[in-house]
Amino acid sequence: MDADGLRVMAEDSGPPHNGRAVRAMQPEAGAGFVSTAYVEELTARALTYLQVGYPLHFAGPAGTGKTTLAFHVAARLGRPVILVHGDDEFGSSDLIGRDIGYRKSKLIDNFIHSVLKSEENLSAVWMDNRLTTACRHGYTLIYDEFNRSRPEANNVLLSVLEERVLPVPGLCRSEGGYLEVSPNFHAIFTSNPEEYSGVHKTQDALMDRLITIQLGHYDRNSEVLITARRTGIAPEDAAAIVDIVREVRGLGVNNHRPTIRACIAIAAILAHRGLRADPRNELFIRICQDVLSVDSAKITHGGEPLVPRRIAEIVRRACIRPKSHHASPLKVRGRAKS
Ligand SMILES: Nc1ncnc2c1ncn2[C@@H]1O[C@H](COP(=O)(O)OP(=O)(O)O)[C@@H](O)[C@H]1O
Ligand SMILES: [Mg+2]
Repeated sequence: MDADGLRVMAEDSGPPHNGRAVRAMQPEAGAGFVSTAYVEELTARALTYLQVGYPLHFAGPAGTGKTTLAFHVAARLGRPVILVHGDDEFGSSDLIGRDIGYRKSKLIDNFIHSVLKSEENLSAVWMDNRLTTACRHGYTLIYDEFNRSRPEANNVLLSVLEERVLPVPGLCRSEGGYLEVSPNFHAIFTSNPEEYSGVHKTQDALMDRLITIQLGHYDRNSEVLITARRTGIAPEDAAAIVDIVREVRGLGVNNHRPTIRACIAIAAILAHRGLRADPRNELFIRICQDVLSVDSAKITHGGEPLVPRRIAEIVRRACIRPKSHHASPLKVRGRAKS
């Protein structure tokens, strides 16, 4: 989990209920996590909404730090976290739980040796799934990319968020079919409305109950800081890579891409090979082309793919700038929407 600058400190399975319990995790910021003034301001705002009782929603394009921030905010709540990834295949049982079989019990009474009494009992065994576990024990639910699930699967969230009760079919026998949601339960959602393939139109009823914070790409300084911290490369090299990626992003070939993930990937590869961000090194240019040319091979000029050539030009220009151009690469500042 350290890959996202977050560590899972402890596993807490919670008291089991009618079967095997879902495992929760206790996140904590790892050494790779970068906190800028903007991250802290955002976190404070998000915590206020959650403490007032509203579910939180981070929305924005890929690579804007939605998942990382969701974990950061959840860590600050100090409760165990249950993570759910939106999935088109989800049914509501993937959130709530299901009957997993039957338990058979047999009682044989042969107290009076001439009389044999036997009694058989068959009862369904219910297993809580992640939403039920979080509601029952007051954990924080992170529902990442929730709009990848079909709206029908998410409908159950409406009563959890509004009436603070969860209808659980498996509890009809024991708890009247409803579970009262713990006051410690909080929900943090993330979604990427830009990514049209494989996502469903977000339900208005659900969106209406969430407080949405729109995220944009990190500002240059934060991207440099994150790239350097996550890979251990020199700040000047991180700054050169970030400048290249931001310029390629500006070409607008693919909406909002390449993201900070590309900065981290190029930097990690350089660090692995012990290379600098030096345009005189053909390998560096090739690495940038490989990492940054995704989805752009179809754009051609005179039968030749255009983007790799543009990338090579950008790399040569970005790296031969005088060092002073990369003004204070490690300055921690807020981030602006790009
Ligand atoms: N504050 C931060 N500190 C360290 N790394 C970060 C930070 N914010 C984002 N990252 C890294 O940037 C990348 C994209 O962040 P992520 O949260 O996965 O974005 P999203 O969920 O919006 O696609 C990940 O590799 C993540 O680890
Ligand atoms: Mg994410």
